[in-house]
Amino acid sequence: MNGEQRNNLVDGNTKLYGIIGNPVHHSFSPHMQTKAFQAIGLNAVYLPFLIEEYQLPALLDAFKIAGVQGFNVTVPYKEKIIPFLDKVSIAAQSLGSVNTVLYENDTWHGFSTDGSGFVRSLENAGISLKAKKILLVGAGGAGKAIALSLIHQEIAEITILNRTKEKTEILSSLINKIQPELPVFTSFTNSSRFDILVNSTSVGMKDNQCPVADNLVEISDRVVDIIYNPPQTPLIKKALKKEIPCMNGIDMLLYQGVEAFEIWTGENAPVNVMRDSLLNSLNLL
Ligand code: ATR
Repeated sequence: MNGEQRNNLVDGNTKLYGIIGNPVHHSFSPHMQTKAFQAIGLNAVYLPFLIEEYQLPALLDAFKIAGVQGFNVTVPYKEKIIPFLDKVSIAAQSLGSVNTVLYENDTWHGFSTDGSGFVRSLENAGISLKAKKILLVGAGGAGKAIALSLIHQEIAEITILNRTKEKTEILSSLINKIQPELPVFTSFTNSSRFDILVNSTSVGMKDNQCPVADNLVEISDRVVDIIYNPPQTPLIKKALKKEIPCMNGIDMLLYQGVEAFEIWTGENAPVNVMRDSLLNSLNLL
């Protein structure tokens, strides 16, 4: 039997990975990660696990018995999984959120690839963050993950705007604690200019709304919207109309998965296979 045939089989040696969440049926990761395992000839599959909160305390023992090698965590368990893990990376500890868990040497080790996936998606697009002025719109879970990764990228400054002001203050204090030298602002003036505007809110996903006023788009040299569905949000459309370079959230989604894959396997992820899977799932191929 040649390698290619073997890759398409599940057999007695197949390793198991997955994603926990509630809901979880909409996740693109089972297809993307299983395709990626197959592409590098790894005998493994990745399945969705719909978990109820009361099941969390027993989950890791059940996974251990079932031979689960690693898993992703999505809403609403990214924070709630932490007390059950044996180790949590420093980045995930600061964030208070875990989206990737590795089982290794009889321990469950938590990581977060949300922010690092965002940074890597920009790197891959040839967008440097060094000395850049960032405008981050949104201070929810995704915004916090992005901010805490950006602050390690030698950016010049970060301005954070969020509908609920309290969250803006909490995030800016956290940044001050981690990077006391970095200028953090929570408002802007008409003379401000930004190198990159990042939308981390869910505005534009279902409501056909733009998360910021036109003048904020105009004072930004580049726009990144982390929303991937629809691929062209009202914010992206606005940027395109004004000929401002822009990027949607497909690559952030891709690279958080790429980084999880690399944590689990120690191998370079087959990025193009994974991107094709996502584009297929989004009916964009
Ligand atoms: P996620 O984990 O996807 O970031 P979240 O933690 O619920 O989800 O954060 C959602 C973000 O979108 C928040 O910044 C939220 O603003 P609030 O902190 O004020 O709730 C923002 N958001 C959602 N709906 C919004 C709306 N209609 N207008 C402005 N901001 C909105």
